[in-house]
Amino acid sequence: MTSKPPILPTGQPATKRRILTGDTPTGRLHLGHFVGSLENRIRLQGEYDCYFLLANMHAFTTRAERFADIRQDTIEIVKDWLAAGIDPGRSTIVLQTEVPAIAELSWFFAMLVPFNRVMRNPTLKTEIESKGLGDSYSFGFPMYAVGQCADILAFRPDLVPVGVDQVAHIEMCREIARRFNQVYCAVDTHAEDQRHESLGGVFPIPAALVGRVGRLVGTDGKQKMSKSLDNAIFLSDTPKQVKKKIGAMYPGQTRDPDQPGDPDINPVFDYADIFVKDQAFVADLRERYRKGDNLGDGHIKAYVIEAVNELLDPIRERRARFEGPGGDDTVIDIIRAGTRRANAVAEETLAMAKERMGLNFGARAEMLGTER
Ligand code: TRP
Repeated sequence: MTSKPPILPTGQPATKRRILTGDTPTGRLHLGHFVGSLENRIRLQGEYDCYFLLANMHAFTTRAERFADIRQDTIEIVKDWLAAGIDPGRSTIVLQTEVPAIAELSWFFAMLVPFNRVMRNPTLKTEIESKGLGDSYSFGFPMYAVGQCADILAFRPDLVPVGVDQVAHIEMCREIARRFNQVYCAVDTHAEDQRHESLGGVFPIPAALVGRVGRLVGTDGKQKMSKSLDNAIFLSDTPKQVKKKIGAMYPGQTRDPDQPGDPDINPVFDYADIFVKDQAFVADLRERYRKGDNLGDGHIKAYVIEAVNELLDPIRERRARFEGPGGDDTVIDIIRAGTRRANAVAEETLAMAKERMGLNFGARAEMLGTER
């Protein structure tokens, strides 16, 4: 078994505070993921001890028969992460299905939340609708929301960087953490969230950290950017694909370049706000657009295309290292090394939780017969 990290007199491990977040491997990542969460993860890598989870178990909740796709999507999403700037030397990449503590905690947590509370989760409801699951979704599907609480709490993190659509899950996670600490660690029901750990709770009450753009509009100019809506610009798109997708965007209105236009209903301006670095320049473009100062939509798109490609160029360069023969194997090695590190933390959490629950009958290694 792995050794536990040292514990400071304050009760905190002698390591940096932690971050946990993850993605379900359902396909390639796009710009919405980047500005919604990835950007934050990359920025916080130095400051925090970061765990990035491949939620491959969750992929099975809606695609159990498509196991081969799930395996490949899992590998591809790691390529997206590494390309985007996640550094496996500093951060830990975790494969959910090889962290048994997560599955075990999921069961215990499922007993601390009413069934109806889970089913009221707005993110689940939206997903049932948008994925057309009707009433024939698997029993495991709503279970993933409880599982996500275990993903998070297994690492006892302070922060969970996510897009807005995930905030409902984090809220449920906070409720479960409070409840566990109250039921099994005698933390007072009125205790402030920040004091739970110092009052003896096993779990911190983690906070969601939403990226600078909560919801990025897709190239259809209407709905949220999403692979399934076919309105996404992927981190792996070529410069040509980016040019084509942005070039085809409807500017929200029909206008002549020398007639006044409304930049506020033009989704290309949303992208200009988010991706063009020189914001004084964008403000000037808006002004000219409003006046009808002979500013064609193609012009604005050209600036946006350039800005997006500037963002994606270094990502493309880094990705090239993992493409071609041997790329998948390199990725799998990174997953294995990370998951091993992750299990040290998750096993420690599970042991702490079971101890408080009166389930300390014997050490894990003894029970599994793997002690040396
Ligand atoms: N449900 C998240 C998504 O689809 C992925 C996820 C799984 C996650 N476990 C997590 C996100 C834990 C944050 C924390 O994007």
